[in-house]
Amino acid sequence: MRLHDRVFLLLGGTGGIGKALVDPLVRAGSRVIVASRHPEKIGHREGVSVVHLDLAAADLDQQLLRLSEAYPDIDGVIHCAGQNRFAGLPAMAVSELDAQITVNLRSAMLVARHFTPIFQKSGSGALVFVGSTFGSIGFPGYTAYCATKFGLRGFTEALRRELADTAVQVVYVAPRATATEMNPEEVNELNRALGNSVDTPESVASQILEAMENDDRRRFLGWPEKLFVVLNGVLPRIVDKAMLKQLPIIRRFLNSGVLS
Ligand SMILES: NC(=O)c1ccc[n+]([C@@H]2O[C@H](COP(=O)([O-])OP(=O)(O)OC[C@H]3O[C@@H](n4cnc5c(N)ncnc54)[C@H](OP(=O)(O)O)[C@@H]3O)[C@@H](O)[C@H]2O)c1
Repeated sequence: MRLHDRVFLLLGGTGGIGKALVDPLVRAGSRVIVASRHPEKIGHREGVSVVHLDLAAADLDQQLLRLSEAYPDIDGVIHCAGQNRFAGLPAMAVSELDAQITVNLRSAMLVARHFTPIFQKSGSGALVFVGSTFGSIGFPGYTAYCATKFGLRGFTEALRRELADTAVQVVYVAPRATATEMNPEEVNELNRALGNSVDTPESVASQILEAMENDDRRRFLGWPEKLFVVLNGVLPRIVDKAMLKQLPIIRRFLNSGVLS
């Protein structure tokens, strides 16, 4: 897909990865509309507009209608918003479960539902979704997050196949751990204890843009994470065993008191 001469709605553009997408998109010749609950986090920049949007709003479909009226030339959406919480399932508040399902999954469905007919009518359009390695590998302490990201991967796969004979492109990009505010210090410590690599938001953003330009349907980031994604799909017992070995370390951070 081309990046120049395009108008992207960027959801999550105030976050670590989303912010790193803004300047490269503008440099590539796109206009960017950043939608967030805190649009003031994005200062004035040439080629960038900001709008208030709460992806957890019950009336999100109505808000999207109004947004499309204000910006009728949007021809691409990048859904890079998300919420997570690292905690054992019983410690997860119902509101936290709801927030993850609503922002990570329901909003992606509503956004795609809203823009698909618009893009079909105009004859082109791109729907880009940021998933996670945890959308393919279940990880202790991330039950709710994994559920939403597995759901997002399934949703985008079905949607891509549903639209395969149209001009609407659907892309799914799955980063591994990335150094943003999404991960509290306990999770950073857990990643260090497990020897997990952590990417910079800038490198993830450049991979997302590369996936878009190359017309990738899906892209999984990081090695060996992408190998584990395949292994978990075909031989999940091997991954079960590897994680059982890691469980005492994971439990140490799960039960650190701050997050449990
Ligand atoms: N960081 C990682 O380790 C990692 C790894 C793999 C995948 N990912 C995925 O990458 C994407 C970006 O993550 P990140 O690390 O950049 O997260 P982040 O720094 O925590 O930023 C989260 C973004 O989501 C937006 N958001 C959250 N709730 C929202 C709501 N109700 N309405 C509108 N916007 C909302 C926030 O906007 P406002 O607060 O301004 O509304 C913010 O822009 C997410 O989908 C995440 O799941 C992250």
